[in-house]
Amino acid sequence: MKKRTDLTVSRSGPLRGRVSVPGDKSISHRAVLFNAIAEGKAMIRGFSSAQDCRSSLMAMRALGVEVDELEPDVLVVSGLGLKGLVEPDDVIDVGNSGTTIRMLPGILAGQKFYSVLTGDASIRRRPMARIIEPLRQMGCRIWGRARDSLAPISIQGGRLNGISYSTPIPSAQVKSAILLAGLYADGETIVMESTVSRDHTERMLIAMGAEMEVSTRTVSVAGGRKLGALDMVVPGDISSAAYLIVASLLIEGSEIEVSGVGVNPTRTGILDVLNAMGGRVEVSNRTVSGGEERGDLGVRAAGLKAVTIEGEIIPRLIDEIPIAAVAATQAEGETAIRGAAELRVKESDRIAALARELLKMGASLEELEDGLIVKGPVKLRGAEVDSHGDHRIAMSLAVAALIAEGETTIKHAECIDISYPGFIEDLKNLALHQQARG
Ligand code: S3P
Repeated sequence: MKKRTDLTVSRSGPLRGRVSVPGDKSISHRAVLFNAIAEGKAMIRGFSSAQDCRSSLMAMRALGVEVDELEPDVLVVSGLGLKGLVEPDDVIDVGNSGTTIRMLPGILAGQKFYSVLTGDASIRRRPMARIIEPLRQMGCRIWGRARDSLAPISIQGGRLNGISYSTPIPSAQVKSAILLAGLYADGETIVMESTVSRDHTERMLIAMGAEMEVSTRTVSVAGGRKLGALDMVVPGDISSAAYLIVASLLIEGSEIEVSGVGVNPTRTGILDVLNAMGGRVEVSNRTVSGGEERGDLGVRAAGLKAVTIEGEIIPRLIDEIPIAAVAATQAEGETAIRGAAELRVKESDRIAALARELLKMGASLEELEDGLIVKGPVKLRGAEVDSHGDHRIAMSLAVAALIAEGETTIKHAECIDISYPGFIEDLKNLALHQQARG
């Protein structure tokens, strides 16, 4: 358990220079989990330094997988094949990582042994029926606390059958759990989504040789096919880059480049929204590796106008809504965010947390059941705010603090390490770079 840390942030001068962010968290999780059940060794470069990804790594070690850490961001995973994992001799603790606890059961469902997954207090509050139900339909013996709705989750793996399943909410974690179980199932497994969620699982499994068919809202996988180990370079995390981008848009005189960021179209909703608001985020030097596109993101300060964020774009920027709400406090007009009730069951209730903390800083906003109405532009002022133990809330408040009058103290800011351990250093370097040049 990390020591509780409060973070004090003051108003910042312009941000300038070039920066790279840690590897994409979603892709890093998948790189470890999927290579662990592949045949052979895979070298993963650019593996995220996020605590969440470490939770996935430790979980796979607990299941008998050898992972060599050649450098902090370079791993070699020795795959044990689809059914080669070994029964863990203790409960596996995933910490704060929702992606680990939701995807891993798809793999454990196909093993011959018993395993139990748990996590921190936030994880033990988050809904798990969304994976337990479809895995049960596939024949898995799986249970959870509170009538199979909460972690700890216990799984007795065994024989599985393919299913055709329509997900009630668009969720890449749920889709991935079912597709992973589908690798072990007799016959074909089909997942249908009402709105497309991030597709890293499909891209990576296809690159590893899985037999899959992907159309707009439907993905299918054939059971029983082996996976080949996949060497890869993980692109930078657009969800982490988003804090630096919004900070640069809001602080007059800023101009930065975030290099090598993943620009998979199922993740770039934040760029579309910021550009619609009048921000100029440009993508250059696009390259593709392992089915995932990356590019350099150039951004400079700009005046913003309000937009409506709703519908199909929501899953494409679900993790970036907190920072989009901070941008909206500085945009001319009324920004409406709707259809995002999922935010209430993330690491914290992000709608309530944002409303409560941004109001303390003088923002003008209204909480909706499924979103927020934010009026701008307003002058923010420093305040004592709380992260609610949620990394994305902590970093969003830190960006708000950079443009606020006076000092802001963010309580429990240690959670930033869950996804972006170098966040404060990167911000300081961008601000310092300016001072050195100016
Ligand atoms: C993730 C999917 C999203 C996202 C989470 C990471 C993933 O969650 O919010 O941070 O890596 O698949 P849902 O699948 O619950 O939408």
